[in-house]
Amino acid sequence: MADRPEIEMLFSAATIQARVEALAETIARELGPSPMIVAVLKGGFVFTADLLRALHYRDCHPRIDFLSLSSYGAGSESRGTVTVQRDITDDPTGQTVLLVDDILESGRTLSHAKQMLLDRGAVRVDLCVLLEKPGKRKAVIEADYVGFECADRFVVGYGLDYAHLYRELPYIGAITLD
Ligand code: IMP
Ligand code: MG
Repeated sequence: MADRPEIEMLFSAATIQARVEALAETIARELGPSPMIVAVLKGGFVFTADLLRALHYRDCHPRIDFLSLSSYGAGSESRGTVTVQRDITDDPTGQTVLLVDDILESGRTLSHAKQMLLDRGAVRVDLCVLLEKPGKRKAVIEADYVGFECADRFVVGYGLDYAHLYRELPYIGAITLD
């Protein structure tokens, strides 16, 4: 197997777990017993799976759906175009929706997803991200619930990938790309 780059741990599994419990406490209080959760694939799936179970113990019993988006040109200064790769199958009409993703960076994909859900009749769409990289926003969107602020480094693990790898790491770490 090829050499794996060194990973510098930023948030341990225990640190993440404690933060997920605290977020679930706030979210259950804010959104009530039956919100609809829309997890953004692929990066949001690990965080969502843990958050769901933490919500269960706080009398919050959400329905759950998945959305996959891709954003072209997001890394450049030009305007990124967002396309839906895998749409939700449940109807968000009249629902209080919690949109869950791994990380908020430019905000392009998430602002597109939020607007799409509102256009389809969701009454409220709150955004929850595990990580936020400040100072990178290109779209007008802020998260309602944030796990951790993250330095401007490339991070992997707990759902986040580099070249399709590392999503299974139980912790979040930074890798140096050369
Ligand atoms: P944006 O907010 O529309 O720019 O999209 C951010 C997306 O880029 C996230 O959902 C991740 O999939 C990906 N991303 C951004 N920063 C990182 C990182 O440090 N590691 C892994 N993926 C990242
Ligand atoms: Mg993503």
